[in-house]
Amino acid sequence: MDTSIFAQIAYLVSAILFVSGIKQLSSPATARSGNVRASVAMLLAIVVTLVDNRILDWTTVVAAVIAGAVVGGVLARRIEMTAMPQLVAVFNGFGGGASAAVAAAEFVRLGGGGAGAGLAPGAGVTIVISTLIGAVTFSGSLIAFGKLQGIVTGKPVTFPLQKSFNALLFMAVLVVGAGIADVGVGDAVASLFGSSGIEIGGAFFLALVVGALILGVLLVIPIGGADMPVVVSLLNSYSGLAAAATGFVLGNMMLIIAGSLVGAAGLILTQLMCKAMNRSLGNVAFGAFGTDGPTTKAKTGERPVRDVDAEQAAMVLAYAGSVAVVPGYGLAVAQAQHELKKVCDLLEERGVRVRFGVHPVAGRMPGHMNVLLAEADVSYDKLLDLDDINAEFDTTDVVLIVGANDVVNPAARDPDSVIAGMPILDVDRARTVIVMKRSLSPGFAGIDNDLFYMENTLMFFGDAREQMSELVKEVREA
Ligand code: TAP
Repeated sequence: MDTSIFAQIAYLVSAILFVSGIKQLSSPATARSGNVRASVAMLLAIVVTLVDNRILDWTTVVAAVIAGAVVGGVLARRIEMTAMPQLVAVFNGFGGGASAAVAAAEFVRLGGGGAGAGLAPGAGVTIVISTLIGAVTFSGSLIAFGKLQGIVTGKPVTFPLQKSFNALLFMAVLVVGAGIADVGVGDAVASLFGSSGIEIGGAFFLALVVGALILGVLLVIPIGGADMPVVVSLLNSYSGLAAAATGFVLGNMMLIIAGSLVGAAGLILTQLMCKAMNRSLGNVAFGAFGTDGPTTKAKTGERPVRDVDAEQAAMVLAYAGSVAVVPGYGLAVAQAQHELKKVCDLLEERGVRVRFGVHPVAGRMPGHMNVLLAEADVSYDKLLDLDDINAEFDTTDVVLIVGANDVVNPAARDPDSVIAGMPILDVDRARTVIVMKRSLSPGFAGIDNDLFYMENTLMFFGDAREQMSELVKEVREA
C-alpha cells in the first residue's frame, strides 16, 4: 500500500502525539490532556488513512462512524464506575476481533493460502499472526466480560489435563498456521487428501480461526473472576499486538506503531498490577487467588470490636489535627466519593489537614480510586502514593478507611498469609483508625483482617454512601 508523503508526515505527528499522550497518563494531573492528545492522534490517523487510501466511499464511512459513536457514547455514559473493567474487556475484544477480521479479509483478497493459489510467505505469516492473536483476544475478552458481569461463572473452570490439552491445541493451531503461511505444508496435506489447493487453504484458515477462538476461551476460563482485571490488562496488550500484526499485513506504519504502543503499555500495566499484589503473572493465570483461598466469614460478635455511630465518628474527625483518608473498593460500590469530598471540605474548613492515601491496587482496576476522587474534584496534590503516605502515618491523628480492606490488612506482614509480602498501607501506626464498611466480611483476598480488632480501631458499620451523608451532617454540627 503506497503512502503519500503527506500521509507519512501526518502519521509521524500522530505517533508523536500518541507517545506524549501516554507519557501524560502517568500522572493524574495531566491524564485528561493525555487522553485528549491520544484521541486527536487517533482521529488524525483515521482521517489520513481514509483520505490517503480512498478504500471506501464516504457514505459507508460516515454510516459506520455514526453507528460506532452512538453505541460507544451510550455505553460509556451509562456504564457504572464499578463495571469499567468489563467495558474495557469488551473494547479489547472488539479490537482483537477487528484485527482478525481485517487479516481474514486480506487472506480472501490475496486469493487464499495453503496449496494452489498460496500466499507470499511474508504475507502469510503476518496474516496468521494477526488472525491468531486477534481471535484469542476476541474470545478471551468475551469470557472475561462474562465473568466480570456474572454471566459466566466467576469460579475457575478446570478439567483434568487442561494445561496439556491447551498446549496440544496451541501446537495444532501453529501447524495449521504454518499450512497457511508456508505453501509446502498445504501442498503436503492437499496431496494426502487429494483435494484442490484452494479448498485446503480455506479449510486451514477456518481451522485457524476456530482453534484460536477455542484457545482464547480455554486460557481465560480457569482464572477466577476476581483476577479478571489483570487478565483484561494482558488481553489489552494482546489486542495491541494483533493490531501491530495487522499493520504488517496491510503495510500500514501507523497501525504498527499504535499497536506496539498498546502492546507494550498493556504489558507494563500487567506487570505493575502483579507487583502491587505481590504475585507473578503465572500465579494469576494458574493460582485462582481470591476464589478458592481460605475464606474467613467473621461475624460481628465473634471477636470484640469497638463500633461507633456517625456522631461519635464526627467528633473524632472534627477534633483531629490531621486526617488521612484511605479509599477502597467499597467507595466505588457505594459511590460515596461526593459525600466523602463534602466531609473533607468541612474538616479542612475547621483547620484539619486532610490527605488521601491511594494504594496502587485499591478497587478493581488500575487508577480506580484516582478516577473516583477526580470525579469528586479532590485536588491531585492531596493524593499521596503508598510510600509517601506510609511515611506520614506515625504522625497522623485519624485514618478514615472507606470501603478498603486488603490494602490495609496487616496480615500481609505474616509470611504464612495468602497475601504475604503484598505492600500495604500501614494505617495501624496512626493514633486512631475509623473503618467504614458494612460488616466484618473479608475483601477480595477472602481473609479476615486483624486491623478491625485492634485497640485503636473504631468500626463504623454501614453502607459508605449512607454513612458518609450522616457524617456530613454530624461534622457540620460538631
Ligand atoms: P477489598 O479488599 O476488596 O475490600 C473492599 C471492602 O469494601 C469489602 O471488605 C466490603 O466490606 C467493603 N464494601 C463493599 N461494598 C461496600 C459499601 N457499599 N459500603 C461500604 N463498604 C463496602 O478492597 P481494597 O482494599 O480496595 O483492595 C482491592 C483488592 O482487589 C486487593 O486485594 C487487590 O489485590 C485486588 N485487585 C485489585 C485490582 C486493581 S488493579 N485495583 C485488580 C484485581 C484485584 P463489607 O462487605 O463488609 O461492606
